[in-house]
Amino acid sequence: MANPTTLPAWKALQAHYDEIHNTHLRDLFAADPSRGTSLTAEAAGIYLDYSKNRITAKTIELLTQLANEANLRARIEAMFTGEKINVTENRAVLHTALRAPKNTEVTVDGHNVIPDVHAVLDNMEAFCVRVRSGQWLGHTGKRIKNIVNIGIGGSDLGPVMAYEALKHYSDRTLTFRFISNVDGTDVAEALIDLDPAETLCIVSSKTFTTIETMTNAASARAWLLKGLTDPSAVAKHFVAVSTNAAEVTKFGIDTANMFGFWDWVGGRYSMDSAIGLSSMLAIGPDNFRAMLQGFREMDEHFRTAPFDKNLPAILGLLGLWYSNFFHAATAAVLPYEQYLKRFPAYLQQLTMESNGKYVNLQGEKVNYDTGVIYWGEPGTNGQHSFYQMIHQGTRLIPCDFIAFANSLNPNGRHQDILIANVLAQAEALAFGKTKAEVEADGTKGWLAPHRVFEGNRPSNFLMADRLDPQSLGKLVALYEHAVFTQGIIWNIDSFDQWGVELGKVLANRIVPELESGAEPDLRHDSSTNNLIRRYRSAKRT
Ligand code: F6P
Repeated sequence: MANPTTLPAWKALQAHYDEIHNTHLRDLFAADPSRGTSLTAEAAGIYLDYSKNRITAKTIELLTQLANEANLRARIEAMFTGEKINVTENRAVLHTALRAPKNTEVTVDGHNVIPDVHAVLDNMEAFCVRVRSGQWLGHTGKRIKNIVNIGIGGSDLGPVMAYEALKHYSDRTLTFRFISNVDGTDVAEALIDLDPAETLCIVSSKTFTTIETMTNAASARAWLLKGLTDPSAVAKHFVAVSTNAAEVTKFGIDTANMFGFWDWVGGRYSMDSAIGLSSMLAIGPDNFRAMLQGFREMDEHFRTAPFDKNLPAILGLLGLWYSNFFHAATAAVLPYEQYLKRFPAYLQQLTMESNGKYVNLQGEKVNYDTGVIYWGEPGTNGQHSFYQMIHQGTRLIPCDFIAFANSLNPNGRHQDILIANVLAQAEALAFGKTKAEVEADGTKGWLAPHRVFEGNRPSNFLMADRLDPQSLGKLVALYEHAVFTQGIIWNIDSFDQWGVELGKVLANRIVPELESGAEPDLRHDSSTNNLIRRYRSAKRT
């Protein structure tokens, strides 16, 4: 693929941007009263209103032309059919196979992976049934009441996000904890009030070599053995989710209690693989399969719908429009659903680890911005903190609002007030309040500008019926494919993460220097050497 900035559609988009970037949403809406219904798309029960974007029908036409010129359709097929599109690691990218129906065939190196996917799912199901029904007992014969997932990155963020998102559907007799940070406080606080005899630890790590996870897992095992003393207890209280059977065995977990996945599942794309074991334990196998069905519906839509009706493509292309033409540095994701409180954090890894790359597929430095920085909080909390800047700051911050028509906890006026707020925010951002309106309200002179809202602040509005396993699957797949769309056009490898390696290597070098009894021979820069010395002399244990 070429440098996207040399494509005819990119050049046409630049010219189009020059023409329309100052056009106000007020004028766009006034010129076309049907805009609020025409610039919308719907698929799999998810409604996307993208009319409050700084676009015209021509923008969508040019953006879809860009997708075509970048061969997006062929690249989607390449992903779905198991081509090794993660070129720097020579791997297929097949998270879509994790939710493919049993009768599908997807081959990697001549091997159909779908039966393997379903075999693991069936194993997970059998295990979850045993734990949830009380057939799986701890070492002392007690029922498992606590589930602790130990993992980091994709082996943590997906499980935590899904647990929080689907808490309403979870077995409330079980307690769930998630340990990720290597900070000893994380493991200490997670285990502080748990009885080891009633606790099951899931060590989730694709590689089973990640220092944070292995350190936390070792501490959790020590905690368990302090309580239960007999080393054979580990077999009843530890299971593993990994691709690395050898390391799992070395840790002391029987591979009979290991749930596998494959190198073609990226960490940040793994919440619907065995990495979702904690999710399945929480919500049960049927709900987990319903979530997979949701993913699948969005996959089918992405694979088949024309780009101008394709939710992930539209979302991805609009993100690119703001990143590369308006030079917006960040985008806010604002779920008006309390259960989605960890969704923005989940999306951060998805988008930033995938598309935060300055080198293209050919290994050349790119001359355009890549990656969208996502951030956000559930509404209405953000309104009383950072929305000020979205409304009146000097930076353009496009927003994705996510709302559901039905609350899972209906209670009097709560839902109407919540939805009124999200609608109001999108409206206020787009249309603002003019000086004339401010003055008409009685504020004159130098005070008036403080109360003016310029408006013209773009947003997408996603709405679905209610948050459930299926709609969560659809939402996650929607963003996965939006990120994919952007990565294809940016001509980068969205599926590697070399940028995390250097820090890991350096940390491994520094650990023994911190632990050394004698003054170590420090060979870092003067700042790092000084900080190491300072830490060594200040630390007490
Ligand atoms: O931070 C890099 C990374 O490799 C992520 O991509 C991944 O999700 C995380 O570390 C955890 O890796 P693992 O599952 O192998 O422990």
